[in-house]
Amino acid sequence: MKKIFILSLIAGCLCAACEQQTPRYLDTTVSIDNRVEDLLKRMTLAEKIGQLNQYSDDVSDSYPMLRNDYYVQEIKEGKVGSLLNITGGTKRVREYQNLAMQSRLKIPLLIGLDVVHGYKTTFPTPLAEAASWDLDAIKLSARIAAVEASATGVNWTFAPMVDICRDPRWGRIMEGAGEDPYLASLIAVARVQGFQGDKADAVDGIMACAKHFAAYGAALAGRDYNSVDMSLRTLWDTYLPPFKAACEANVATFMNSFNDLNGIPATGSRYLQRDILKGQWKFQGFVVSDWGSIGEMITHGYAKNSKDASAKAILAGNDMDMESYGYIRFLDTLVTDDKIVDITVVDDAVRRVLRKKFEIGLFDDPYRYCDEEREKAALNNPEHAKAARSMAAKSIVLLKNDNNLLPLSKSTKTVGFIGPLVKEHKQNLGAWSIVDVFMSDVNCEEFIVSQWDGVRQRMDADSKLLYAKGCEIEGDDTSGFAEAIAVARQSDVVVLSIGESKLMTGEARSRSDISLPGVQEELVKAICATGKPVVVLINTGRPLIFNWVADNVPAILYTWWLGSQAGNAIADVLFGDVNPSAKLPLTFPRSVGQIPLYYNHFNTGRPGATDTDYVFKSGYMDVRTSPRFAFGHGLSYTDFQYADLKLSKKTMNSSEQITVSLNVTNTGKYAGEEVVQLYLRDRIGSVVRPVKELKDFKKIHLQAGETKLVEFVITNDKLCFYNDLLQYGSEAGEFDVMIGSSSEDIRLGDAFELK
Ligand code: NOJ
Repeated sequence: MKKIFILSLIAGCLCAACEQQTPRYLDTTVSIDNRVEDLLKRMTLAEKIGQLNQYSDDVSDSYPMLRNDYYVQEIKEGKVGSLLNITGGTKRVREYQNLAMQSRLKIPLLIGLDVVHGYKTTFPTPLAEAASWDLDAIKLSARIAAVEASATGVNWTFAPMVDICRDPRWGRIMEGAGEDPYLASLIAVARVQGFQGDKADAVDGIMACAKHFAAYGAALAGRDYNSVDMSLRTLWDTYLPPFKAACEANVATFMNSFNDLNGIPATGSRYLQRDILKGQWKFQGFVVSDWGSIGEMITHGYAKNSKDASAKAILAGNDMDMESYGYIRFLDTLVTDDKIVDITVVDDAVRRVLRKKFEIGLFDDPYRYCDEEREKAALNNPEHAKAARSMAAKSIVLLKNDNNLLPLSKSTKTVGFIGPLVKEHKQNLGAWSIVDVFMSDVNCEEFIVSQWDGVRQRMDADSKLLYAKGCEIEGDDTSGFAEAIAVARQSDVVVLSIGESKLMTGEARSRSDISLPGVQEELVKAICATGKPVVVLINTGRPLIFNWVADNVPAILYTWWLGSQAGNAIADVLFGDVNPSAKLPLTFPRSVGQIPLYYNHFNTGRPGATDTDYVFKSGYMDVRTSPRFAFGHGLSYTDFQYADLKLSKKTMNSSEQITVSLNVTNTGKYAGEEVVQLYLRDRIGSVVRPVKELKDFKKIHLQAGETKLVEFVITNDKLCFYNDLLQYGSEAGEFDVMIGSSSEDIRLGDAFELK
C-alpha cells in the first residue's frame, strides 16, 4: 500500500482532491520540462498518438473534410495534435481550439500553414528575395509574414525551404535561396529569425520549419519527387549546411522530404533524422513528415503497408504524421501488440510536440492567436506594403544594360508597354500565394499593383503609355503581334513584360524545356525588328534560358515574381527611383544540356574548354561550358571600382585570422549599392576542392564619387570542409583570395597560406 502511495506521488498525484487543483502542467510557474513530463504522465497511449497526428482542413474538394463529424469528434477526443490549411482566419481557428478544449486534457492544436512569402501582403518569391543578398530585408519579410499569419490564428509555418538546388528544371527552385551553401545558410537563419521573432512565445511570431530534410532539391533530372543519389561528402558540404544553420538558429521544427536519398526515403531515414539531426546536431524540436510521405514509403518500395511505413517512420525519427493516417491507425498496435515500437520512442516524439506547444504559450492561452482586432490591423497595415515594395525592388536583377538604356526618363514622351504580363494582377504573386488559395475575399484587382498601374502612375502627366498584349504566355497564337508592332512603332522606347505563368514553378512544376514559353521570343524578335530601344522584364520563379533575348535586347531586368507590390517596384527600378542592386543567387545556364551547372564546381583534370577548343577538354561540342549569367552577377546604374586589396598577413594558423581589405569607389553618376563578394579556393586538398567558394560578402551603399573601405575577416571556419571520412576541418596549404562583383567578374586577387 505504502509502495503504491509513493509511486503515485512520483507519478504525479491523480486522486480526485488533487485533480480539483490546477494540474501541474497548467501551472505557469512550473518549468516547461516539468510541465511536459506532468502532462505526459497523464496521457493515455491514444492521446499521445493524437499529438502526432495532423490533418488538413478542406481547403479544396480533394482534401479530407475536417468539417466531417468524424474528424470533429477526433479533435474532441484528443486524437489530433495539429491542423493545417485552415481558411477563415481567427474565427475558424477559434472554433477548432474550442473543439480541442473539449478534450480530456485540453491540449491546444498547432495550426500550420505554408506561409512561404508573405501572408496577405505578398513578398517576392523566396528565390527572388535571395537575389537581394540583403539579410535584414529578408528577415523583415519573414517577420511581416509572421505578424500577419499569427494574427489570423496560424502558429506554425512550413517554411523556410532551405533546399540547395542546382537544377532550374525543378519547379521548387523558386522556394529556396539558390545554389550556394554559404548564402543559403545565412538566408535560412534570417528567415527562421524573422518567422519566429525574438522570443519563442512572441505572440506575433510563428514556429518555422526547415524543409525538406534532406537533399530534395537534388531530385534527379529536376523532376519533382524523384530520387536523389549523391555522395555523403556532397550532402554534408553542399546540401546540409543550411539545415544545420537553421537548427543552430533554433528553428522549432523540421520537415522531411518526399525523395529517397541513396535508396532510403528521407521520411524513413534514421541516418538523417536520428543520427544527424537529433543526434549530432542535438535538435530539440520535432520533425513532421511531408504530406503523405509516410504512406509514400509503400510506393517507394520501402514499406509493406501503412503499418510498416508508420513503424519505419517513427523509428527513424519522424515525429508527426502529416496526412498519411498511419500513426493514428497503427501506432497503438505497433506499441502494445507487436512491440515493434517502444513506448519511449512515442514518448520522445510527443514530448517534442508538447514542448513546442508550451513554448509558444498555447497552454497558457489556446486563443492567444485569435484576436480579431489584431487580425484586422495586421492585414491592413500600410507599413507592410511599403516593406513589400522595397523588398521587391531589391530583388530585381539588372542582367544587362547596354549603352545605359536604363533608367528611363519619366518624361519619355511615349512608352510602349507590351506583353502578356503587363496587365496581370494575380500572376505577380507567383506560387505559394495565400491570397490566391485561401483569401477569396481579397479583391486582387485593387490589392495587387499590376505592372501597368505601377508604371502608368510613375510617368509624367503629359507622357503617353501605350499597351498591347502581343500574345499569351503559352500557345502559338501570333495574331496580336501586328497590334504590338504598331504600338512599338509609335513609342520612343518599348518595355516588354514576358515570362512564365505563376504556376509554371512551384511544387510538381518541373519543366524539361526552360525556355520562354509560347511565342514570346518571337514577339520579342518582332518588336526588336522595329528598331526601337527595348527593355525586357522577365517574370518567372526560376532561371530561364533566353539566349536570343540575352544576345539581342539591350536591357534586361529579371523581375521573378515580385508579389503584391510588383508594379510599384518595377516602376521604381525602371525609372531609377531605386538603383538595382540584386545579384543572382544561382547560375543561369545557356542550355538545358549544361544542367547541373553551378559556380562552385571542381576543376576536373581537363578544364578550360571554350566554344571552339573543346577537344579532349571537359566541355561540349555544341555549347560553351560557361554560364549565360554567372552566380553573383547583377548590374547597377552606376559603376564600382575595386582597388587596394590588402591582406593583413600572408600566413595564418588555425587559431589566427587574416583581414582582407579593399576600397570600393562609386565611379558613376548615381548613388547605388554593391555586393562585394569574397571567394576562396583551397588549391590542394586531400579531396579536390571547388574552383571557388563564396565565403563572405558585404552589401554597401555608396553615393556617387564615394569610396568605402570593405573588410573581410578570414578565420579557420571559412577554410573547413568535410574530407573523405566526413571529418570536418581545414587542411594546411595555400588558398587563393578572390574579390569579385560576381563569381566570374573577379576584380582583385591574392593568396595566403594556412600553416
Ligand atoms: C507538400 C510540400 O512538399 C510541403 O512543402 C508543404 O509544406 C506540404 N505539402 C503542406 O502543404
